Amino acid sequence: MKTILITGGTGYIGSHAVVAFEQAGYKTVIVDNLSNSSLKTIDGIEKIIGYRPDFFEVDLRDKTKLEDVFRKYDFDWVVHFAWLKAVWESCEKPLEYFDNNIVWSIRLFELMKDYWVRNIIFSSSATVYTSPQPSPLKEREQAQSWIKEDFVTWNTSNPYGTTKFLLEVILTDLSKFAGFNVINLRYFNPIGAHESWYIWEDPDGIPNNLLPYIMKVATGELKKLRVFWDDYDTVDGTWVRDYIDVVDLIDGHLKAYELLENIPLSNFPPEGERIATKGFIDNFNLWVGRWVSVLEMVEAAKKVTGKDITYEIAPRREGDLGEVYCNPSKAKSILDWEATTSLEDSLRNSWKFYNK
Ligand code: NAD
Ligand code: UFG
Repeated sequence: MKTILITGGTGYIGSHAVVAFEQAGYKTVIVDNLSNSSLKTIDGIEKIIGYRPDFFEVDLRDKTKLEDVFRKYDFDWVVHFAWLKAVWESCEKPLEYFDNNIVWSIRLFELMKDYWVRNIIFSSSATVYTSPQPSPLKEREQAQSWIKEDFVTWNTSNPYGTTKFLLEVILTDLSKFAGFNVINLRYFNPIGAHESWYIWEDPDGIPNNLLPYIMKVATGELKKLRVFWDDYDTVDGTWVRDYIDVVDLIDGHLKAYELLENIPLSNFPPEGERIATKGFIDNFNLWVGRWVSVLEMVEAAKKVTGKDITYEIAPRREGDLGEVYCNPSKAKSILDWEATTSLEDSLRNSWKFYNK
């Protein structure tokens, strides 16, 4: 059975990955320092899959503890989710983001190199693309031709995006010079939850992301949503995003791994001769190709929850990307992957959790 190391596996997206990979017949091993998640997630995963996944409370900065985990298992691949991920916070603490996200990832890659684990799927982001790209498209029907994987990726809008960009650069060199096989999956706004509602997106304190915030307004835990500005050149003046269901997103990771498994053998070092050689690298946008403004999301949530969502217009949030459209056709043609969950179903699964 193939064994996967999942960094950040008790987080929102990582926990959904653990469930999907276990159910697809892989063995997963989670490392997470629980800085933005809790052990309740392990209980939730156990309820869904019927047994407790292997979990180690490890901070990736602690190479000794991380190496203990590498010694215990013979990993076939790594999915790297662990990250500091708040865009606005990265604008306030850029050096912390560079130090944390880049330096701890290098510790991980050192161990991958030493223990001959060469396959990695990296949880990248739409924020790697240079923003703004030339001539924002106003017409939704033209948007299919918007961001493709070969668009320019540098000069990002915020330090968070820069850390994702820098890690992609590092992984490119590791594929060229250290035989790493890499797939960077660039996604934007994952929403929703596993239909069981045993795992979910439930950040501590006041959420940064739109959907958990809206849900907390719907439950009455928070008074009103602040809509970060309403005078942009979009359908209704509020920013537009491509919200993707987290279960669809994880399915894209499984499809990406199938691709890695089927790389021609010429890309690997000869049996018994573990020399550094050229690896494989590719990037995919995992997006729906569906665009929803902040106010459209508020309306959709009102319908699904049956609650009023009070909001006020607030100033632009530092570091926010503008309108970003993506073309998901490469993932469709090469990975045979497509997101299929409706916005309403994603909201319904989230609401099941918040309303319980
Ligand atoms: P999350 O915060 O829920 O999960 C990240 C996990 O990493 C948390 O459980 C946290 O405790 C853990 N972690 C952080 N620092 C660590 C460290 N030093 N050592 C060990 N564990 C550590 O975030 P998420 O939404 O599940 O995001 C997962 C990945 O997807 C991140 O890389 C994020 O940048 C990327 N991503 C997220 C979104 C989004 O909107 N949620 C969009 C694009 C990309
Ligand atoms: N928004 C509000 N009010 C809120 C929260 C968000 O109006 O209280 C708006 C934002 O301005 C933005 C949209 O809702 O226009 C979505 O904001 P989110 O915070 O949910 O998500 P972002 O698009 O800012 O960022 C997300 C993840 C990042 C990831 C990025 C792209 O949070 O980790 O997508 O990959 F990097």
